[in-house]
Amino acid sequence: MKGLILSGGRGTRLRPITYTRAKQLIPVGNKPILFYGIEAIVKAGIKDIGIIVGDTRDEVMAAAGDGKQFGCKITYIHQPEPLGLAHAVLTAGKFLGKSRFVMYLGDNVIQNGITDLVRDFETKKPNAQILLAHVPEPSQFGVAELKGGKVARLEEKPKKPRSDLALVGVYMFDHNILTAAKSIKPSGRGELEITDAISWLINNGLRVDPYIIQGWWKDTGKIEDLLWANRILLDELEYSVKGRVDGKSLVEGKVVVEKGAVIKNSTVRGPAAIGAGAVIEDSYVGPFTSVGRGAQVRRCELEHSILLDECEVCDVGARIIDSLIGRKARVARGDLKPRAYRFMLGDQSEVGIL
Ligand code: TTP
Repeated sequence: MKGLILSGGRGTRLRPITYTRAKQLIPVGNKPILFYGIEAIVKAGIKDIGIIVGDTRDEVMAAAGDGKQFGCKITYIHQPEPLGLAHAVLTAGKFLGKSRFVMYLGDNVIQNGITDLVRDFETKKPNAQILLAHVPEPSQFGVAELKGGKVARLEEKPKKPRSDLALVGVYMFDHNILTAAKSIKPSGRGELEITDAISWLINNGLRVDPYIIQGWWKDTGKIEDLLWANRILLDELEYSVKGRVDGKSLVEGKVVVEKGAVIKNSTVRGPAAIGAGAVIEDSYVGPFTSVGRGAQVRRCELEHSILLDECEVCDVGARIIDSLIGRKARVARGDLKPRAYRFMLGDQSEVGIL
């Protein structure tokens, strides 16, 4: 079997971060989201992985490399425009050949990995197997209706859902999905939808099995979901302090302080991760916070937030919570007169002020 990870896309829901960065490389639980997918596929015994990349391809390729660090071989496949998940499958046609494969959305994280479902797919050999989860609000998702243990119908964001089973971002296919993707037309939003391609399989008499997961899964396409995933995954880290913590600081709970990070006169209360080379001074870093490499936090309080590499947060008078702060972004109190807020914000930035 082969693996196909989708790491292109527009990422409109995470702008402005995604104007310049791949959302799949945002760290949750101190590791880029994309790496959870790669590791889950490798753990399931699949060593030949294709990654679909778009405009952010250089960054994705630099991070994941040739795959040696994960014990697999990675082939990058450029999708010139994000024209849909089924379009991504078509783009990977040459890489996939006649292989059966698992397709994994690069911004999804799944508890307990995918080993059991890959095994199930290999044993039962249906033409496709889709991962489903019971959700409280199915009308926000692609929803599956089952009959006789098989998937009988799929609907995208239905107003009146026929079940509470939502499609999760992992799918298993044989080569018939390529024929399906070639046979469908773009949807109203101009994309070749994977739900339409799977419906084509069903309508053409091919077998699509469901696999219902019990654990949690998260699509991290929005800030709330990123913070949610960061919260759950930081909580799974083990205490490890390799950086320097001075005598006036308190580091408690599940905290990772990477090599070269410095904590001075501060409290870090886990679960939290402080990246290599970061400086935390006269500050409080509270639970569920990730501070990126080389970031600087001085005279501030932070909680339930993700700070990307090399950003700077200084002298902010109130606690910063529920935030995602971009690479090299700077939030600081200025002493210029007149006393005023001074912003330089990218398109679609969001600032909450007191
Ligand atoms: P989505 O989150 O559905 O789409 P998106 O990344 O464009 O984000 P938004 O809806 O906020 O604009 O995509 C799921 C995953 O699939 C994600 O990792 C990006 C990837 N993808 C591709 O690689 N190619 C595509 O054509 C699309 C639509 C998504």
